[in-house]
Amino acid sequence: MAVKAAITSIGGYIPEFRLTNKILETMVDTTDEWITTRTGIKERRILKEEGAGTSFMAIKAVEELLEKRGIKGSEIDLVICSTTTPDMPVASTAAYIATKIGAKNAFSFDLQSACSGFLYGLVTGSQFIETGKHKKVIVVGGDKMSSIIDYTDRTTCVIFGDGAGAVLLEPNDEGYGVQDSILRSDGAGREFLYIKSGGSMRPPSHETVDNREHYVHQEGQQVFKFAVNNMADVSARIMDRNNLSAEDVAFLVPHQANKRIIDATANRMGIGPDKVMLNIHRYGNTTNGTLPLCLWDYENELKKGDNLIFSAFGGGFTWGSVYLKWAYDPS
Ligand code: UT7
Repeated sequence: MAVKAAITSIGGYIPEFRLTNKILETMVDTTDEWITTRTGIKERRILKEEGAGTSFMAIKAVEELLEKRGIKGSEIDLVICSTTTPDMPVASTAAYIATKIGAKNAFSFDLQSACSGFLYGLVTGSQFIETGKHKKVIVVGGDKMSSIIDYTDRTTCVIFGDGAGAVLLEPNDEGYGVQDSILRSDGAGREFLYIKSGGSMRPPSHETVDNREHYVHQEGQQVFKFAVNNMADVSARIMDRNNLSAEDVAFLVPHQANKRIIDATANRMGIGPDKVMLNIHRYGNTTNGTLPLCLWDYENELKKGDNLIFSAFGGGFTWGSVYLKWAYDPS
């Protein structure tokens, strides 16, 4: 049997500070009722530590993962950091994380695919395992979204939060691990979800700062339409081509952007709410953090052999779905 890449450990980190809907009511013209009914979010976490970037959370998530698996950083071959908010625009955040966790024998790189970044990272990392050349690969997804959110813009500031989660991938010859994936992108989507300035097209200037162009801008309704259709499409397709019925699926692991998008995806798959991982009410949309943080929260409910369908959609546009067989029982 061909070697597959199995998830063998999970870690997560969410900052302490809870930005509740009630607090947001005092910051912008919004209500707890609007946020709850339109998105499903009740609170999100915000990283307040001075000078701390995404790596601060990612390192804590990876340290937990290593401790749970009982291994040292020096045993890791590769660290992939999926993030849209790297510590700095140039220096690799993954390289810093790898060094901080003692992964002195590893190489590392950042992967930027907006909200689909963790899913892309999971598939990319799996392929390094499947070649047989790498034995221990960490994929850590996280974002400090509060660093790129305009807290005077009610259409975006209520949605996003900070957090990071990490998985360890190892070879498995019993058939557990990543079974199949569908990854897609469509660059036409970039007019609906972007940060206008600070990249190579429009470098930072006093003018871009004054115009608040370094914050996320989203045409919510447009993104919503694409997200609903595409997430549901790929999730239904991956079930279909692997002959999976709703009964065969233990959990849908969906990107946590909007509870209504998650519900629509689950409906198309014929999956009931008891089989949908959900933590959007507690963390909001942590971008690259959502999928691993779902696993982190639900780890104790997962059993060896469970079929999981991951599904994500994000800026670019980017989207995709992964079918994975869970490799271990709760400890
Ligand atoms: O993770 C990356 C991918 N991102 C997504 O998947 C996000 C997709 N989009 C969404 O989740 C939703 O479009 C939002 C949650 C962003 C917005 O919900 P919506 O139901 O699409 O609202 P809308 O943009 O159509 O706005 C409806 C109304 C507007 O008022 P009018 O024009 O009808 O008077 C908005 O101004 O709601 C207003 N509104 C708000 N009201 C209170 C927008 N934001 C708020 C707010 N509080 N925070």
